[in-house]
Parts: sequence; structure tokens; C-alpha cells
Amino acid sequence: PYVIADACIDVMDRSCMDECPVDCIYEGKRKLYINPAECIDCGACEPACPVTAISLDTKVPGGKAEFVGDNARFFEEPLPGREEAIGAPGGAGVTGAIGVDTELVAGFGDAG
Ligand code: F3S
Ligand code: F3S
Repeated sequence: PYVIADACIDVMDRSCMDECPVDCIYEGKRKLYINPAECIDCGACEPACPVTAISLDTKVPGGKAEFVGDNARFFEEPLPGREEAIGAPGGAGVTGAIGVDTELVAGFGDAG
């Protein structure tokens, strides 16, 4: 699947959402996340991002590899304050903005 890395944090341009044919890009609080169980690897989102935050999981630039697992974790494990994982609900239009981030993203940029 494709993955969104740190450049999206606090930018959240959302142009990517308009391009995705399967609506598998979900909105957290500081960043968006691609659902690996729903992404069909069409690649339409990648050029739409003005800060080039999106890439194929096997081509994520060095130092940003942790975002591959982190994108998956957003859907596969309960987010902070939630009982259940999001899973594959069938589209961001179904869930609306999630409004919560993974621990990695929530604390990203914090000094110490
Ligand atoms: Fe983020 Fe880029 Fe999409 S900034 S919301 S990945 S267009
Ligand atoms: Fe959608 Fe991008 Fe995947 S447009 S299907 S998230 S490659």
C-alpha cells in the first residue's frame, strides 16, 4: 500500500483524499493515514500532495520507514482513548474524521 509520512503532520492539505478512488485515506488530528487493507495501490494520491508526504511503502525515504508500520497501526490497533481498532470500515466517508492520532504522530516534534 501507499503510506503517508511525517511531512503531512500539521499540514493536512487533504488534496490526496479527493484523488483516492476507494476513499481509503482517513483523517486523524494532525495527519492523514492510508488504510493498508483498503488501498488498491493506484498511486493517484502521490502526485496530489504538495509536500510529497506520500510514497509506496517499499519506497518510503530512509529515516521515515517507521511511518509504514505507523499507518497500519492507526487502523489495526485501538487508538489512544478508544476501545476498538478502526479496521477496514469501507471508506473515510463512512467514518468521517477520526480526530485522534497514533502515539508516534501525537507526540511528533515534542522536545524530550
Ligand atoms: Fe497530507 Fe499531503 Fe494528503 S499534506 S493530507 S498527505 S495531500
Ligand atoms: Fe487511494 Fe492512494 Fe491507495 S489514491 S488507493 S490511497 S495509492
